[in-house]
Amino acid sequence: MNITNIHAREILDSKGHPTVEVDLTLENGMTATASVPSGASTGSTEAVELRDNDNARYFGKGVLKAVANVNTTVKSIVVGQDVTNQRNLDTLMIAADGTENKGKLGGNAIVAVSMAAARAAAMAQNMPLYKYLGSLIGNTTFVLPQPLLLILEGGKHGNWSTDCQEYFVIPKKERFPTFKEALRAGAEIFHTLEQLLHDKHYATGVGYEGAFCPMEMKSNEEAFQLMTEATEKAGYKMQDDIVLGLDAASSEFYKDGTYTLKSEHNGKLTSRQWTEKVIEWTKKYPIWSLEDMHSESDWDEWAYFTATIGKDHQIVGDDLLTTNVKHIQTAIDKKAVNSVLIKVNQIGTVSETLDAIALSHKAGFTTVVSHRGGETNDDFIADLVVGTSKQSKFGGPDRGERLAKYNRLLRIEEELQ
Ligand code: PGA
Ligand code: ZN
Repeated sequence: MNITNIHAREILDSKGHPTVEVDLTLENGMTATASVPSGASTGSTEAVELRDNDNARYFGKGVLKAVANVNTTVKSIVVGQDVTNQRNLDTLMIAADGTENKGKLGGNAIVAVSMAAARAAAMAQNMPLYKYLGSLIGNTTFVLPQPLLLILEGGKHGNWSTDCQEYFVIPKKERFPTFKEALRAGAEIFHTLEQLLHDKHYATGVGYEGAFCPMEMKSNEEAFQLMTEATEKAGYKMQDDIVLGLDAASSEFYKDGTYTLKSEHNGKLTSRQWTEKVIEWTKKYPIWSLEDMHSESDWDEWAYFTATIGKDHQIVGDDLLTTNVKHIQTAIDKKAVNSVLIKVNQIGTVSETLDAIALSHKAGFTTVVSHRGGETNDDFIADLVVGTSKQSKFGGPDRGERLAKYNRLLRIEEELQ
């Protein structure tokens, strides 16, 4: 089934910034559309998000160059190719770009075409997208993910209300065997927290990813206390029903061996002091999943942290690994993580994303499929998680671009029953 046309356009993402959307048409007349998310706190080795840097438009954030790259160069190599050969399409685009980080054509240009091609290939074969993506890594059993549900935001996503960027409630699989019940628990805790914040005269506006980020919150520990209170008030038991998760996105507050915390100590911590602080939290609160607690340049401390608490905690690499097999291999060699965050636009093609997932699983790591700070209503990652992984990180249970993914998961669950 050959590709007959592709067309890219500039649309806006959930932060109101331009991003790339692509329509890809097949010889049977079917068209698939895909659009690209955008990171807020990005890893330094991510695929390049090509922006126009023309200050006369969108303060330089326009993506007309990336759009033009799709409509000329990428179009010329992709049209006429078989859409069901994802690896070939991705390899052709990587070769045409010719750089290590997709800096010439733009990771945002390439990934939009790559995702639209996968979606079109599934449509052409009359297959749900999750099944098609699963087939590309030899997976034939599909389960709905355990959601890491975001209820509080700090850091760069939440006005620096606290140091850490994301605070999750994680419904335990054994207590919530279906996704819809896990989502319900998360949404109930979310709304109970809203009431709690309201009663305390704390702000109830939400951050980039749809969770509360009250500036009145005084510390990371207060966040854990609020989450515990909300969980119990909503009728769930902390530890038995619900555990907690954290994404510190700590590269944002790390420099030259020092973690600078706003809330906890008004001060500067060495790597080891910071690690000890985090371990102390895990003893006081049931925090099970810990993402980017250390900076992407603090590899030795990652390894120490994983060796110390990795046996019964999930230690997730995001900015450290950028969905890149090269960095994942380093993490395997250094025993730096036991879990890998998966973001398609960090690496820039569907095939390379699937390679990252396959390598992670081969090493015995879990994979967590993730949204970005800036999203569109594209629900590709919902199918990706069902096709390939067992955990999702799709934000708070509000904001349309987050619900697009959650609601797609509800539909898939119904279909699989
Ligand atoms: P980012 O982070 O989009 O700011 O990189 C998203 C996340 O890790 O949830
Ligand atoms: Zn992260």
